Amino acid sequence: MKKKPIILGIETSCDETAAAIVTESNTGTPIILSNIVSSQINVHKEFGGVVPDLAARSHVEKIDLITKKAIDNSGINIKNIDAIATTAGPGLIVCLYVGLNFGKTLSLNLKKPFIAVNHLEGHALSPKLNSKLNYPYLLLLISGGHSQYLSVEGLGKYKRLGTTIDDALGEAYDKTAKLLGIEFPGGPKIEEYSKKGNADKYELPKPIINKGGCNLSFAGLKTAVLRIAKNIKTEQEKYDLAASFQKTIEGILYKKSKIAFEEFKKINKNKNNTFVVAGGVAANKKIRNVLEKLCKKENFKPIFPPINLCGDNAAMIALVGMEKFKFKKFDNLNYPAKPRWPLDEKAPFLKGAGVKI
Ligand code: KG4
Ligand code: ZN
Repeated sequence: MKKKPIILGIETSCDETAAAIVTESNTGTPIILSNIVSSQINVHKEFGGVVPDLAARSHVEKIDLITKKAIDNSGINIKNIDAIATTAGPGLIVCLYVGLNFGKTLSLNLKKPFIAVNHLEGHALSPKLNSKLNYPYLLLLISGGHSQYLSVEGLGKYKRLGTTIDDALGEAYDKTAKLLGIEFPGGPKIEEYSKKGNADKYELPKPIINKGGCNLSFAGLKTAVLRIAKNIKTEQEKYDLAASFQKTIEGILYKKSKIAFEEFKKINKNKNNTFVVAGGVAANKKIRNVLEKLCKKENFKPIFPPINLCGDNAAMIALVGMEKFKFKKFDNLNYPAKPRWPLDEKAPFLKGAGVKI
């Protein structure tokens, strides 16, 4: 039997230093041999967000130890690694450089191919780490930097159906959390707070809910939260605002996902309809529940990555590396860091004032 590829994945695009080793079973199921993630939350929390230079310095301090730990934990001899897959973008350029330089140096020393990976493709394919998933599928990618609906038609083949015209959903969660005095990154805390609050207490806007197809917008919502947060006095009012925010997001994603389903069906006729939700915000259980309900009603099969693989990790980067390895899609060692690297390169850039949707 042909030897299965063993791929080292490296991820440093933002505030997680991560390394992982992934291979696959004889039947083609991905196997995570090790998956190490070192979060920099403590480095950034006093600043209320990620500070690029501090993030890069922290990556430099840890990348070798984290990679060594991933190799040691996998039980694999370093010589048996078949390729080094590294996130090349999108992300903070100073952070991307750290992982890229490290990955390229390892590739050179081990004389093994180097594979540049799009971080968003890592999220897009992450559910393959625990579920059987066939192309095409509809993807809702919701993270700290991106919010998009994409038709995923194959490795490297994406058609964007909708995107945010301003803030990303994770950003909206984090900003709301900050206004409630919750430390960065506040997304998970908002979900917790929302369980203790009255979701009908505050009426919040759902920007562009009746226009713009399945494009998304969260900036107006943030402004409304800011106005209310200024007058909040009690803990209970904080819980109520978190619950009202969470409910508003659920409403937006329900309606926009329904539109995305129709658009996906138009371009992928007579196919099995699968809906994948990935990225950091996909860890939100209430969002999962609401989208599961929609899928049941609309006859789509919902698939989510395991909760611990929703946030940034290197297993998803190694997985993309493994898929590319099978097609011998290797990259040169002069491959650049790409701070902006959309999955659908043909889709127009929609962010910014004056956007017509
Ligand atoms: O994918 P990710 O780890 O990093 C990026 O590529 O951006 O996503 C991080 C984002 C943060 O904004 C964080 O607050 C949000 O995901 N997040 C959540 C939850 N867990 C993480 N947002 C809402 N509910 C959660 N449970
Ligand atoms: Zn991410």
